[in-house]
Amino acid sequence: MSTSIKSSTNELTFASVPAADGLNKALALSRVDIIDAIHESKLKGRGGAGFPTGTKWNLAAAETRTPKYMICNADEGEPGTFKDRVILTEFPDLVFDGMTIGARAIGASLGLLYLRAEYGYLHEHLENVVARRRKTGLLGRDIAGIEGFNYDVLIAMGAGAYVCGEETALIESLEGFRGEPRNRPPFPVVSGFLGRPSVINNVETLAWVACIFSKGVEWFRSYGTGASAGHKLFSISGDCEHPGVYEFPFGITVAKLLKEVGGEDAKAVQVGGASGRCVPRSEFERRLAFEDVPTGGSIVVFGPDRDMRAIAHNILDFFVDESCGQCTPCRLGNPKLLQGVEMLQEGTCSLQYLNDLKGLARTMQVASKCGLGQTSSVAFMSILEHFENEVLGRKPLL
Ligand SMILES: Cc1cc2nc3c(=O)[nH]c(=O)nc-3n(C[C@H](O)[C@H](O)[C@H](O)COP(=O)(O)O)c2cc1C
Ligand code: SF4
Repeated sequence: MSTSIKSSTNELTFASVPAADGLNKALALSRVDIIDAIHESKLKGRGGAGFPTGTKWNLAAAETRTPKYMICNADEGEPGTFKDRVILTEFPDLVFDGMTIGARAIGASLGLLYLRAEYGYLHEHLENVVARRRKTGLLGRDIAGIEGFNYDVLIAMGAGAYVCGEETALIESLEGFRGEPRNRPPFPVVSGFLGRPSVINNVETLAWVACIFSKGVEWFRSYGTGASAGHKLFSISGDCEHPGVYEFPFGITVAKLLKEVGGEDAKAVQVGGASGRCVPRSEFERRLAFEDVPTGGSIVVFGPDRDMRAIAHNILDFFVDESCGQCTPCRLGNPKLLQGVEMLQEGTCSLQYLNDLKGLARTMQVASKCGLGQTSSVAFMSILEHFENEVLGRKPLL
């Protein structure tokens, strides 16, 4: 099948895996063996946090309360991320295969795919895929002839809030409430949708699950690094000649990736979206992997003429807008940081006040209730760390 995903090595995995192949192979195994295979594959979640998928499934499988839910996070709200959109458009069967394998493993009877509001145009397409899968026995009752294996999927629409990609806010939204993150613990594997054990996995994670069962655990582990197995999809945008969605193995250096996309003259890249860190040119030999520079897959390239204060402003402006306002460090901290960047732009921020802002950022990272407030200052801090002269309007020392 043709795909808009690119790769330097011509290894376009999703295009080489037939629909239902991974599912049929997984369903020939016991539930325990399915989870063991995912453990052994070392698959880590592709939604950003990199939590081991096998561990998550095992925790949900161990819960005795029913019904259980297998949920797909298709909120894809991280700025600069658009790989899940391509997967849902071109390879939706791999995602539903992954959900159904997960449902079998943990004992879920219902699945929900939470689709971001901006992807509303994909709703009908996904409903058609679900309808086709029901007709062909890949969803519904006694799936693939396995008596008692009943699983169906509903598509649920988001309403346009970035925080609803956070798994507990997503659950609140699915339940019809305002999308506000919950306290954790309890984690969703214990008490998730409607207070029942629920697994939430990213679109790409689920597509890899289908590939792992189709091509084998060894095949998957033969790529990537020891701590970050397999290939990864990257959404690459900004100041480069060939932006798009790319498949690369984990462990690729920033420099190699920039060469592939025609962005060699970059002065920095923002890795992991607005909540990720800004990697300067001096660190382009670092590897994109959970043990070095972690990422959910967003890479925004900044060319030599980009103004780093403007970038920090743009990112913090986003978080001021998207904070749900539930907790004080995030609700009040983000506007304070944004105001600080404006003072830096005007040349009215003293070094003493800049130090106060750094202290505030550190407090937000430890005291905010959810990942949004814990990471919203990461880009600002890394821009300060690597571009202090530019941010302070000083000429660099030669
Ligand atoms: C503010 C915020 C937004 C998030 N947005 C997304 C998202 O759009 N898609 C996603 O898969 N995970 C997102 N996450 C991570 C999820 O909470 C969760 O870790 C993930 O869906 C788990 O799937 P995985 O284990 O397959 O990566 C977000 C987290 C935070 C804190
Ligand atoms: S950190 Fe921000 S987004 Fe998360 S709960 Fe607190 S106010 Fe809401």
